[in-house]
Amino acid sequence: MSDLILHNHNADGVDRRGFLKCMAWAGTGVLFTVTGGVLSSRMLSAQAAEMPIADFTFAQISDSHVGFNKDANKDVLGTLRKAVAKINALPAPPDFILHTGDLSHLSEAEEFDTLEQILKEAKTSRFFYVPGEHDVLNDNGALYLERFGKGTKGSGWYSFDHKGVHFVGLVNVMNIPEGGLGILGADQLAWLKQDLAPLPASTPVVIFAHIPLWAVYPKWGWGTDDAAQALALLRRFGSVTVLNGHIHQTLKKVEGNITFHTATSTAFPQPAPGSAPKAGPMKVAPGILPSLLGVTEVNYVEGSHTLAVVDEKLA
Ligand SMILES: [Fe+2]
Ligand SMILES: [Fe+2]
Repeated sequence: MSDLILHNHNADGVDRRGFLKCMAWAGTGVLFTVTGGVLSSRMLSAQAAEMPIADFTFAQISDSHVGFNKDANKDVLGTLRKAVAKINALPAPPDFILHTGDLSHLSEAEEFDTLEQILKEAKTSRFFYVPGEHDVLNDNGALYLERFGKGTKGSGWYSFDHKGVHFVGLVNVMNIPEGGLGILGADQLAWLKQDLAPLPASTPVVIFAHIPLWAVYPKWGWGTDDAAQALALLRRFGSVTVLNGHIHQTLKKVEGNITFHTATSTAFPQPAPGSAPKAGPMKVAPGILPSLLGVTEVNYVEGSHTLAVVDEKLA
C-alpha cells in the first residue's frame, strides 16, 4: 500500500490538491465519507458500526471484460458472478448498479449477451452503463448503443435524477488512439453545460465515465484530454463525486468540492501507475487475485450531502 499525502488540510477545506491516496494493493477496503467536500476515511474493518444510515445506496462495478481469457484471469465470468454475489449479500439491495465500461473485451454480441445474463442475477431494479474503449472496437459503438444506450444522446451520454442526486453518464472512449487519453468532445461538453445549467449549486452531482476525468497517469492514457472543461462546469456545486473505471484499481483524489474515485475491475488487475513498463493485464498469484477485484458501494444520506464510498474486494 502506498500513501502519498503532500497536503491534507481537511479541517479548513483550503488545500487538498496534493492529496492522493493509493490503496490499490492493500487487499482491504477503506470507507470514505465526504461531507461538504471534506473527505474522511477509515479502514473498512472499523466501518460496520459507523456506517451512516443511508437514504439510498448504489453499487458500481467496472471492467468486466467478458471474453478475456488470458493468464491474468482465465475465469472472468466466475469473478463477475462473485461480484454479483457480493452485491446480493448487502444488507439491503442497492437502488441500482452502475457499470463504468469495458463490459466486453472485444465488443462481440455474445460477450454483451453473457454480461447481461450474469447481471440479471443481481438483486437490484435498474442498471446504468457507459462504454469503455473495449465496447466500441469494431463498429464505433453501434452495437453497444443498440443494447445499452437506448434513449441516450450522441455516443451514449445521458443524465438522470435519483432521490435528489443528479447522475451524469459521460462517454470519453470514442475515437481515441490505443493507449491515448480519453476525449469528451465539443458536442458532449455543450450538452453537459445545458444539462447542469438549471440545477441549484446545492444539488449533489455524481459523474460516471470510463476513463478517469483526472490525470492519473497520462503516459498510459489514464486521463481525459478535455476533462478540465467538464470540471469547470462542476466547480459551483457543493458536492461532486466522479466515478471511473479503466485503470482496474482503486485510487482516490479530492480536489476542492470534487472527489474522484476509480474502481477495481471484476476481471483482472493492472499495475500501479508507473510501476511497470506499460499498462495491461497483470498476472498475480491466484490467492491474491480476489483481493484485487471487487465492487464499490456508495451510500447517500440526504441533507448532509454525504456520499460514502466503500470498496469491497471479492476475497
Ligand atoms: Fe478495462
Ligand atoms: Fe478501458
